[in-house]
Amino acid sequence: MRVLGIETSCDETGVAIYDGDLGLIAHAVYSQIEIHAQYGGVVPELASRDHVRKTLPLIHQVLEESETTPSSIDGVAYTAGPGLIGALLVGSALGRSLAWAWGRPAIGVHHMEGHLLAPLIETPAPEFPFVALLVSGGHTQLVDVAGIGDYRVLGESLDDAAGEAFDKTAKILDLPYPGGPELAKLAEHGDPARFRFPRPMTDRPGLEFSFSGLKTFALNCLRTELPKAEDPEQTRADIARAFEDAVVDTLVIKCRRALKTAGRRRLVLAGGVSANRRLRERMNAAIAAEGGETYYPRPNFCTDNGAMIAYAGWHRLQAGQHEPLSFRPKARWPM
Ligand code: KG4
Ligand code: ZN
Repeated sequence: MRVLGIETSCDETGVAIYDGDLGLIAHAVYSQIEIHAQYGGVVPELASRDHVRKTLPLIHQVLEESETTPSSIDGVAYTAGPGLIGALLVGSALGRSLAWAWGRPAIGVHHMEGHLLAPLIETPAPEFPFVALLVSGGHTQLVDVAGIGDYRVLGESLDDAAGEAFDKTAKILDLPYPGGPELAKLAEHGDPARFRFPRPMTDRPGLEFSFSGLKTFALNCLRTELPKAEDPEQTRADIARAFEDAVVDTLVIKCRRALKTAGRRRLVLAGGVSANRRLRERMNAAIAAEGGETYYPRPNFCTDNGAMIAYAGWHRLQAGQHEPLSFRPKARWPM
């Protein structure tokens, strides 16, 4: 079975083709970063308009690249939520229409299920069961995964998602959008010993997160330290490093706890923040020290992409699921 996947939930247009026998045979991502950068964040209306411009050309591109004709597509998967409703409508309407025109089934995929399954496209792929840490711009969740579709949320953020905290703190530090990778870059030459930020909610039991206090901590630190700093650039880097260390440590502590709680030894990380180099290093070391294994998608499948949607959709279509003509994307949609 060969599935076309379409992702348009936020500011990346992602399209891919997944084939049950051959694996991923084509994928393409177009990022809208330049459009939104001048506004310091995603402008939903501009995102929708750009998806309208880019999705169909990308579909043509992946069909050509993989020498696939529409008649050899067996199904179409599109992100049906959660995300920006206008942006979701573009991919959903296009995906549903193509499936109808081609006489093939269509399936709406949960964006976070896409992220969660992305590491399974890689080799070696993790075997079930495992615990997944989903860390994106909109979500921070620990999920116990017994198999495809068998998910139990163990804990999530009570306020800001980890990526959102990165982005907001980056803004405080005057870094351009999208802030996460920029903050990580600045933190590279930060002194880890200069400031220590709290590790929120790690001193009590449970698997919930709270990251909104860290940006306030960063703001207060900046306001106190910058006026008296001899080297303001170094101070900004030191704050970035303290922030990154706090997020990374918190995620590591909660992941170790989640593996213990669920009685698992495999940990899967996915979502934009799982591209963070320091997070990967520390998580790998901490989990290996306890005899566990850690899995990630390649960095450009950590952030939004069409491959994860094609892959998740392939699983669902294989299982005989599909959607009626009256599709309805959802801006909010619990896992
Ligand atoms: O999964 P994703 O592409 O989109 C959502 O579904 O939200 O995640 C985007 C988030 C952004 O908040 C971005 O700043 C963050 O992932 N991110 C990073 C890094 N790369 C992306 N955060 C920290 N370090 C990175 N290297
Ligand atoms: Zn995402």
